[in-house]
Amino acid sequence: MEPQVKRLKTWHAVPMSEMARNTFNPIRSIVDGMKITPNPKKPMIALSIGDPTVFGNLPIPEEIDEAVIDKIRSHKYNGYNPSIGYEEARQAVADYTSSHDAPVTSKDVILTNGCSSALDLCITVLASRGQNILIPRPGFSIYKTLGESLGIQVRFYDLLPEKSWEVDLKHMESQMDENTAAVIVNSPSNPCGSVYSRQHIEEILEVLERNRIPMIADDIYEHFVFSENKYHSMASVSKTVPILSCSGLTKRFLVPGWRMGWIVVHDRSNAFHEIRIGLNSLSQRILGPNSLVQSALNDILKNTPQSFYAETLEYIEDNAKLFYKLISEIPGLKPVKPQGAMYMMVGIDTENFTNIKDDVDFTEKLVSEQSVFCLPAKCFQYPNFFRIVLTIPKEKVETACERIKEFCDLHYNGDSRSYISC
Ligand SMILES: Cc1ncc(COP(=O)(O)O)c(C=O)c1O
Repeated sequence: MEPQVKRLKTWHAVPMSEMARNTFNPIRSIVDGMKITPNPKKPMIALSIGDPTVFGNLPIPEEIDEAVIDKIRSHKYNGYNPSIGYEEARQAVADYTSSHDAPVTSKDVILTNGCSSALDLCITVLASRGQNILIPRPGFSIYKTLGESLGIQVRFYDLLPEKSWEVDLKHMESQMDENTAAVIVNSPSNPCGSVYSRQHIEEILEVLERNRIPMIADDIYEHFVFSENKYHSMASVSKTVPILSCSGLTKRFLVPGWRMGWIVVHDRSNAFHEIRIGLNSLSQRILGPNSLVQSALNDILKNTPQSFYAETLEYIEDNAKLFYKLISEIPGLKPVKPQGAMYMMVGIDTENFTNIKDDVDFTEKLVSEQSVFCLPAKCFQYPNFFRIVLTIPKEKVETACERIKEFCDLHYNGDSRSYISC
């Protein structure tokens, strides 16, 4: 029998697919719905954009540019590359990532179109429709966007601001069931700027081990850690829990537009035989990163001077310290000290601001009166906070904080000391 095809009666309403219908980016829908009208008397300061290149204040070293220019001139890399990436580039990622506690070979590496695509492949390979994944709250919004577009249930586990955004382990475990396919963990974190200690990573891994659930580690801010903290990758701590680690050039190398990402398979307990096959198959749907950047990867990872990483971090850490100090002095606000990455979260005592309902209202009014725009943390499923990006030019930090202070002085009626201590 011929299959019954339901034909449209008119051309007026060609329906979108189920996947398109289920695709929803919370940041876009919240920000697009906001009234962002700066005060014309004050030049705008955007503390909202997580792209470290927008202000032009963080230069990248010549070695990175030259690596790509050389490959363009060679004319050897204009063709298609293997779906999982060039062997030499995968070897370069393996050399860059491998450590005594988490040894990696090129067979464990798949190159992807930025870290987002790495996350997409990892979620897709681990979870099927009807299953669920656990993601942090507050957390980077793409986890929810990707999971839900695939028809996977997305559940949140809470992070605790009073414990520098450590995971509420009891809450995380209470969200797990037999259909939980993976847990995503992000340290250093966007939006929190938190960095987990070795001990805390062990505690998280214990929960995953007890429930036999693999981890997707979003390591895009790996090594982006301020001087008082130490970076431990999830994989270097895990003895038994299998981990798919996602990272790339985006943040540490300050080239988000180059779309160079990767997955590293840390196959603890020999659990990922099928997952490796699945990742290989999924990589064949659409070729990964641009051949020129792939071919330059070995030079980029090996020739970038250590001083570049150190200087970038120092710049961001100096900004972080100044922001933290100045915002701590503003009535009605409570910053959570950042430990790494490029962000700081700030709590708002919304109950005691006159005519301010929530974080969206606060950030809208702040931009219209003071031309300072911060992202409301509702974008990260965490109301009554806002997120500040720490990569802005140094000379703008004080002005931004003075304006935020003027705004709070005008609208805050509470007792800041009792808010700070609660
Ligand atoms: C936590 C986190 N993961 C992943 C990404 C996406 O990285 P990419 O631009 O390489 O896709 C970002 C980008 O801001 C991020 O903050």
